[in-house]
Parts: sequence; C-alpha cells; structure tokens
Amino acid sequence: MKKVISLLLIAVLVSGIVCFAGCSEKKEQTKEVTQAITASTEGIDYLVVVNKLHKLPEDWEQKLQITKMNNSLGDDVEVESKAYEAYLKLKEALAKEGVNIDLDSARRSVAAQEDIVKRFTKKYGEDYVKKYVAVPGYSEHHTGLALDLYLNIDGKDVYLNEDMVKYPEIWEKIHQKIADYGFILRYLKGKEHITGYNYEPWHIRYLDDVDLAKQITAKGITLEEYLGLVKTTDVSYDYGKSELYTKEQIEESMNLVKCEFATWEGCELFALRYAGDEINTKEKLQTLNEKEPGKYTEMMVLEMDFKTGKKAPDTLEAEKEYTDYQWTLGCDKEGSWEIVKSGN
Ligand code: DAL
Ligand code: ZN
Repeated sequence: MKKVISLLLIAVLVSGIVCFAGCSEKKEQTKEVTQAITASTEGIDYLVVVNKLHKLPEDWEQKLQITKMNNSLGDDVEVESKAYEAYLKLKEALAKEGVNIDLDSARRSVAAQEDIVKRFTKKYGEDYVKKYVAVPGYSEHHTGLALDLYLNIDGKDVYLNEDMVKYPEIWEKIHQKIADYGFILRYLKGKEHITGYNYEPWHIRYLDDVDLAKQITAKGITLEEYLGLVKTTDVSYDYGKSELYTKEQIEESMNLVKCEFATWEGCELFALRYAGDEINTKEKLQTLNEKEPGKYTEMMVLEMDFKTGKKAPDTLEAEKEYTDYQWTLGCDKEGSWEIVKSGN
C-alpha cells in the first residue's frame, strides 16, 4: 500500500506540474519527480495521508523531528519541527489582528490517542467519537503535522470543542491566514464523506508548501481529493419535510452516515436524503429494539445513492450503482444517535 501511495504521489506531482504551472517540459517534470523521491527517502513526506483508510507509515517515527513546547494551559505539546516554526509565524500574524491562538495538541502517540478515545467516549458518547476522534494508529496527529488550535478570547482560554465552535467569525479570520504559512483546514464542512470526520475548525494540517496550501484552500477541496485518492462528484442532499426532526438533527445523522461512508474505499457518493416521517412507525422501532428491548426511543431512515469501486464493502457488489440504499439510525434515552443497520 505504501508503495502504491508513493507512486501515486509521484504521479500526482507530475500531473500537478503540468496542471498548475502549465508546463509540459519533460526536463522539469523529471526534476520534480526526483525531488519527491529524495524527500520520501531522506525525510518525512509532508503530503502523507493518514485517515480512516490509511494508517501511519511504519518508518515515520524514525524520520520525524519534533519540537516540544508548553501551552498556556501548562500542557506539553510536541510538534513536527518545521510545522512548529510555521505555526509560530501564523500565531504572530494573527496576534497582530487581535486573534490569539495556542496549541492544544499536535503530535500524539498511539497510546495518547487511545486515552483520548476513552475519555471522549465517556464524556461525549460513541457517536461523537466516531465523528471526531480517530482510531489509534489512524490519526493524522501521529504525523506531528496536524495541529489542534485553541483560542484565547479577552484573556480567557477557550479550548473545549463545544465552546470553540461558538466563535465562527474568529475561526474564519484564522482560516483566511493559515495557507500563507503552509497549512490547510483538514476537516471541511460538507466533505465528511471523504475525510470521515465532522467539521473541525481547530484542526489544521501542515503541508510545507505555501503555494500548494493556497491552491487547495482556494479550490475548497480535501487533501484526499487533491491527491486523487477519492472519486468525487457534487453530492445532493435532501432534508425533506419532517414534523419529527429539525433540519439540524437530520444533518447530524447524515454526518454520522457520511463519516461511516468514508471508510468504504473507492465508493462515490451521489445523493443522501431523509426517507420521510412515514417510515418511522412503531413496528419498525420495535424491530430495531428486538435485540435489546427499550434501547432506542426514536429512529430515522436515510436513503443514499452511490457507486462502489473496484473493491466493495461486505454485502455489496463491486462497480455497481446503488439507489435508495437505506441507513437506519436509532436514538437512545440519552439522545445519542447511532447507525443500527445499513442496507435495505
Ligand atoms: N480529531 C482527529 C480526527 C483525530 O482524532 O485524529
Ligand atoms: Zn486534531
């Protein structure tokens, strides 16, 4: 797999030169490819993809150079050294505009990620963890190139996820600046089916390439899309008309489904819609509760149109288009939604 990704990166770099520089000179292509190979044998690959499908490369730790810092909360934070230098410049530029940031977490070991999974499951529940926390070994934080920021507003540190999302206008100012220092916003709104995670305004990713960061940001795409790792089309969403659920509740459930869909390698999403109130019958809820009576108090069905790739997830056929594929979700007494069933 590693080899495949390296080859892919090289291929993308070559096409990138043609595409972005508008250059068709063979000589120049060869030069860029050589540089990419050198970079991957001598140092870390700043375009590495670590996501729900791709784990941290095995030799990563040996190549990684980290800088240790202490944040305003007194926590020790480790960051890949070049990413830290760039972060300090970003922080300084933002401070001049009255926006104060600090580093909550950057490089995390697999053990640290395990600890986060445990703490967050206890505090926020499993569905939240699926949408916001990577499985240990599959977190971009292992690379040292992913940085979680927090805010300091009027002298007060704002670091809890649920508090940080209350300041979209401050994040907007931050997001406008990050590419100037080689960072991209990694988990974009509307791209959950590709990244596998909910929107995270605090999680930025260092690419060590300002021009590339600017291109990716201007296009509003993910790293996966830039590298050609996923097939993408514009997805159509239909929240329908519901007397049971608000658009926000349906959207939350859709995000849960989209985060799961991102683990279906090679599959392309076309449409996702609310299946309607009439499907939420007492009988259906009872069936959902068959294994554990009383577990779910509410249910919701979403329908999806998509196409599988060369490999298909279990129970599905490869290279086939599916329409009205159903996802059934249940809500427990604590108000937490989970996917109970996929498939009709
Ligand atoms: N919050 C990101 C997805 C992580 O846990 O790596
Ligand atoms: Zn993060």
